[in-house]
Amino acid sequence: MGLSSLCLITVSIYILSTIVLFHLVVANSMQSHTPTCHDGEISALLQFKQSFVIDMSASEYVGAYPKISSWKSNSSCCLWDGVECDEKTGHVIGLDLSSSCLNGSFSSNNTLFSLVHLQRLNLADNAFNFSQIPTSIRNFPRLRYLNLSYSVFSGHIPFEVSQLSKLSSLDLSLNDDMFSNKEWLRSLAQNLTGLETLDLSSINVSSTVPSTLTNLSHLTSLILSECGLFGKLPGRIFKLKNLKVLDVSSNPALTGNFPDDYSGSSPDLMSLKLSATNFSINLPSLIERFHSLKELAVSICNISEGPLPFSLGNLRDLIYLDLSYNKFNGQIPTATLGNLRDLIYLDHSYNKFNGQIPTAMLGNLTQLTYLSLSNNYFHGSVPQSLFHLMNLQTLQLDHNNFSGTVEFQKFLNLQKLTYLDLSNNNLELLSESRFLNNATTVLPEFEYLKLGGCNLREFPDFLRSQEALFQLDLSGNKLQGQVPKWMWNISTETLSYINISHNFLSGFEKTAAVLPRIHLRYLDLSFNMFRELLLLPYLTSFLYYNIANNKLTGQVSPMICNMTFLGYLDLSNNKLIGNLPQCGGNFSASLEYLKLGNNSFHGNLPQSYTNGSYLRMIDIGHNNFHGQLPRSLANCASLESLVLSHNNFTDTFPVWLGALPELKILKMDHNVFYGVILKPDKKNLQFPVLRILDLSYNDFSGQFPFEYIFSGNGTTSITHDLEYYRIYSFNGGYYSITIICKGVERYYPRVRGDLILIDISSNNFEGQIPEYIGKLQGIWSLNLSNNILTGRIPSSW
Ligand SMILES: *[C@@H]1O[C@H](CO)[C@@H](O)[C@H](O)[C@H]1NC(C)=O
Ligand SMILES: *[C@@H]1O[C@H](CO)[C@@H](O)[C@H](O)[C@H]1NC(C)=O
Ligand SMILES: *[C@@H]1O[C@H](CO)[C@@H](O)[C@H](O)[C@H]1NC(C)=O
Ligand SMILES: *[C@@H]1O[C@H](CO)[C@@H](O)[C@H](O)[C@H]1NC(C)=O
Ligand SMILES: *[C@@H]1O[C@H](CO)[C@@H](O)[C@H](O)[C@H]1NC(C)=O
Ligand SMILES: *[C@@H]1O[C@H](CO)[C@@H](O)[C@H](O)[C@H]1NC(C)=O
Ligand SMILES: *[C@@H]1O[C@H](CO)[C@@H](O)[C@H](O)[C@H]1NC(C)=O
Ligand SMILES: *[C@@H]1O[C@H](CO)[C@@H](O)[C@H](O)[C@H]1NC(C)=O
Ligand SMILES: *[C@@H]1O[C@H](CO)[C@@H](O)[C@H](O)[C@H]1NC(C)=O
Ligand SMILES: *[C@@H]1O[C@H](CO)[C@@H](O)[C@H](O)[C@H]1NC(C)=O
Ligand SMILES: *[C@@H]1O[C@H](CO)[C@@H](O)[C@H](O)[C@H]1NC(C)=O
Ligand SMILES: *[C@@H]1O[C@H](CO)[C@@H](O)[C@H](O)[C@H]1NC(C)=O
Repeated sequence: MGLSSLCLITVSIYILSTIVLFHLVVANSMQSHTPTCHDGEISALLQFKQSFVIDMSASEYVGAYPKISSWKSNSSCCLWDGVECDEKTGHVIGLDLSSSCLNGSFSSNNTLFSLVHLQRLNLADNAFNFSQIPTSIRNFPRLRYLNLSYSVFSGHIPFEVSQLSKLSSLDLSLNDDMFSNKEWLRSLAQNLTGLETLDLSSINVSSTVPSTLTNLSHLTSLILSECGLFGKLPGRIFKLKNLKVLDVSSNPALTGNFPDDYSGSSPDLMSLKLSATNFSINLPSLIERFHSLKELAVSICNISEGPLPFSLGNLRDLIYLDLSYNKFNGQIPTATLGNLRDLIYLDHSYNKFNGQIPTAMLGNLTQLTYLSLSNNYFHGSVPQSLFHLMNLQTLQLDHNNFSGTVEFQKFLNLQKLTYLDLSNNNLELLSESRFLNNATTVLPEFEYLKLGGCNLREFPDFLRSQEALFQLDLSGNKLQGQVPKWMWNISTETLSYINISHNFLSGFEKTAAVLPRIHLRYLDLSFNMFRELLLLPYLTSFLYYNIANNKLTGQVSPMICNMTFLGYLDLSNNKLIGNLPQCGGNFSASLEYLKLGNNSFHGNLPQSYTNGSYLRMIDIGHNNFHGQLPRSLANCASLESLVLSHNNFTDTFPVWLGALPELKILKMDHNVFYGVILKPDKKNLQFPVLRILDLSYNDFSGQFPFEYIFSGNGTTSITHDLEYYRIYSFNGGYYSITIICKGVERYYPRVRGDLILIDISSNNFEGQIPEYIGKLQGIWSLNLSNNILTGRIPSSW
């Protein structure tokens, strides 16, 4: 061993000296030809250097380094890193400062714009602090290559860019909030007749695709994904002879279809991405026409559904195939995919495929790094041939009907696997410690490990050695007893998502010191048998905490007030008692969802809800709260849903909530609310978007003022934006609510956005039923019973 490492060192020294030698030679030979820099250009570049700070986090590329650090006034600027001069004139004609860790704002008077001879400018992957692209870009009339991709530019793209008529390559992609004038793309298409490469992805161009774009006969690569394009994609695009890459994905309002006649079109289109558009696709004819495709993405597309065409197997050059989120059904024909031996990326998820996975098919796909079959109806056992796909990094088999046993040690073959999802099948996962936890075994280093519903009876021992987990899902298994101590110590630097809900766990093994888990953001312990509320106030970035449906008893400690970053807190369906701790009404500064329903809390509600509260939902139904409602609830301007049902509140109707601009659900039933609901003097107290109102089983009297409370006509909808939490895949996006309709209590896990429910039954309301209710659109349920109302349901119904 000593000998061989010696040899290695000798060899590397030899290589090193050759490189040094080579450098010297090159440097010398270049020195002799080096044109001298123009003084003005040297000082312009040095001033440019001064206008930014070097900041390693400003560039994402792993090989990024600050090229400008080496720029020194005592050498010719033509030798500087990233600078290119014209050999004859000495003018700076090229500047490649991509991934150069530049941070700072770009202004129109930046000295860069005095380098009027520039032909190539690459500033991609820096951080220009949301600057606009300066109009001084017009100073570069000779520019052929312009790349400002992924550099934190923003705002309006100046017209001047579309006038750089010599451009053959333009890349403005992946900047934040960048948008253009409606005519900009049209002007570009008319003027930049030499364009070969155009990448505008994620810029809001918000226009149709101008037909003049199809005159750009040199185009080889056209990338317009997520540009807000609408209207019809001109069919003549497919006739561009040189086109190799076409990506118009993520433009949902973009329509179009392939031309019937392809004569004269590109013989070798290599990459076609039409995902998330409304383009009409006939897969067999697409395959017939574009047989050289290496990349095909038609996720969320307008495809005539059915089984996969056999001819897919003819696309032998395919390396990337995304068919996800369509309605494909039937079995996967072996002969089809088995032929695609170069496939690296294969996504079949969210379709209606069924049958077994053809074992033979996978055997040929040895290059695969990404395989997703999730959310289909596949059944049968997990094919053994999967475990020969040594390059797999992502494997998603979740949400199918796979059955049988899977031995976890099989995954030892897949050393590159970082994402594994086996959840929601009928699988039984066997993890024998003797194989997985001995000194000779090296497990893959998982980042996402999702083993929901895999019939696990205990926490798999192999987790102990996982150091890089980001998300761990063990929900819906048969875990019981206590959560072992060592679970707190796995992947402490990375783990941000833990879901162990729907098991039979009863507690946490006591540990001397619980390590601060500063990265934990999502903890779901719901549907278990926990008896003690686990409070983790040291978690500074905690967003989601769900411990609903357990056996928690006792009072809630004031420590909960210190979980200041909570966004979602669910303690419902337990046996908690006592007053709520006095954290102030908002509980935590960032709380959006507060669910405490179905416990035995009592006392008054905490006072002092403050302006700037993020609360969207408060559900404290089925407790023993009493007294008046805190008037400061009117400060919760984001509140959409307030559920107070089944308590002992004694108060008049909260007209003062009528100013809340988002309030859609107000449930106050089964309390002791009383009095006449008077139309308020103030105009702005009109419950502008209220959809669901339940006042039943209270002591209200007098007339019920429909016109005032429902003046919003129910024209708005309840659907709301929960994207943030969806990332953490909790079943959000809709309200769940229990509604009693005709005496039958029903639980609606997802309330549709467009219905109106009114229940004022079992009060002492009196007077005529007003005609007005006939005007309410979308009324779905109306219960007026057990009051002293007269008249009939209005004829307008
Ligand atoms: C740029 O520098 C500013 C000020 O130092 C800093 O706040 C910001 O995070 C930096 N931006 C990036 C992307 O590094
Ligand atoms: C230029 O100056 C730097 C110090 O600022 C020095 O390290 C370098 O050797 C000098 N280069 C030449 C070519 O004189
Ligand atoms: C970023 O831009 C803002 C406002 O335009 C400015 O106040 C701030 O100083 C800039 N930061 C840097 C690092 O240039
Ligand atoms: C550019 O203009 C800003 C003011 O808009 C000024 O502060 C800055 O010094 C100017 N930079 C140069 C290089 O002239
Ligand atoms: C622009 O620069 C980025 C980062 O260096 C690179 O990935 C991209 O391919 C370039 N775009 C073009 C069109 O050359
Ligand atoms: C094309 O650009 C040139 C140079 O900036 C300009 O003079 C001309 O008006 C532009 N033509 C169109 C059609 O925009
Ligand atoms: C894009 O711009 C249009 C008009 O400029 C605007 O109506 C639209 O909301 C923008 N879209 C996005 C996603 O910003
Ligand atoms: C595997 O690839 C070979 C060569 O392309 C082909 O003949 C064979 O049918 C493929 N096997 C399967 C199961 O598709
Ligand atoms: C350790 O695990 C390997 C499989 O990875 C197995 O072959 C070996 O028998 C195990 N050793 C013991 C002592 O169980
Ligand atoms: C809450 O945090 C404060 C400091 O931020 C500390 O003084 C107090 O003891 C903490 N309360 C509990 C119950 O941990
Ligand atoms: C409700 O409150 C009243 C007094 O306000 C009290 O008499 C009654 O017992 C309470 N009911 C319940 C169920 O707690
Ligand atoms: C409700 O409908 C009436 C009549 O149709 C209309 O005048 C009023 O503006 C509508 N209110 C809202 C909030 O849309």
